[in-house]
Amino acid sequence: MILIISDVHGQFQVVNEQIDFAERRLNKEVSSVIVLGDFGLFEVNLRRFFVRDKKRFKRPLYFIEGNHEDFGAFEGLMKKYGEFFTHFARGTLQKLDGHAFLCLGGARYMDLMNTPMHSEISDADIERCLSHPPGSAKIILSHDCPSGIGVPNTPGLEFYGPPGIVRSAEIIHRYEPRLWVFGHHHKWFAVKEGGTFFQGLAESWKGFGVLESDSTFTAFDNSVELVHEPFWRRWFASF
Ligand SMILES: [Fe+2]
Repeated sequence: MILIISDVHGQFQVVNEQIDFAERRLNKEVSSVIVLGDFGLFEVNLRRFFVRDKKRFKRPLYFIEGNHEDFGAFEGLMKKYGEFFTHFARGTLQKLDGHAFLCLGGARYMDLMNTPMHSEISDADIERCLSHPPGSAKIILSHDCPSGIGVPNTPGLEFYGPPGIVRSAEIIHRYEPRLWVFGHHHKWFAVKEGGTFFQGLAESWKGFGVLESDSTFTAFDNSVELVHEPFWRRWFASF
């Protein structure tokens, strides 16, 4: 079974805790983990976990990017830490455990603070998503939600307009996916429309989803306590 989790924000130990919880609860081994963005790809987080604390993810980990990653240093960080996890690039079709996933990292534009350069989903990204044979992806994984499925705005952010990936309807039309899983909005969401089940995940420390080999998807609520380190400590740990 694949554990699908979102919005790690550099709290990498949470991933391992959720793996432990899933395996205990389901009495089955997690084969791999997919993070749906806001992984927290920043040197300070990576160095703390992999170098200072000498930790590793317990299972092979794949991630799509969110809007909170270090896009300026992305390639360099992947070179340096790429032995520990794999990036599923935007618009690619990825095969894992008999599933075919269409991956769409990034987010719809909000503002410069929340949508730094290279995190915004462009028309070219959508075209890349639409370049695979019709019906070839039965599961879509994205960071932001599809538009028009009723994901509510976060209170106070209404002025950004209705949330969601513009042109997501074209992706649904081409692939008629069975399942579309996303994060970014930091809340649980579930709706079935047409033949597609849309599932929004809360933050990694609130829970995750599990995808079985027969394609059944189940969401699990499980709160994990966060380790808070003062910024200066994390900063010094990065040298
Ligand atoms: Fe996000």
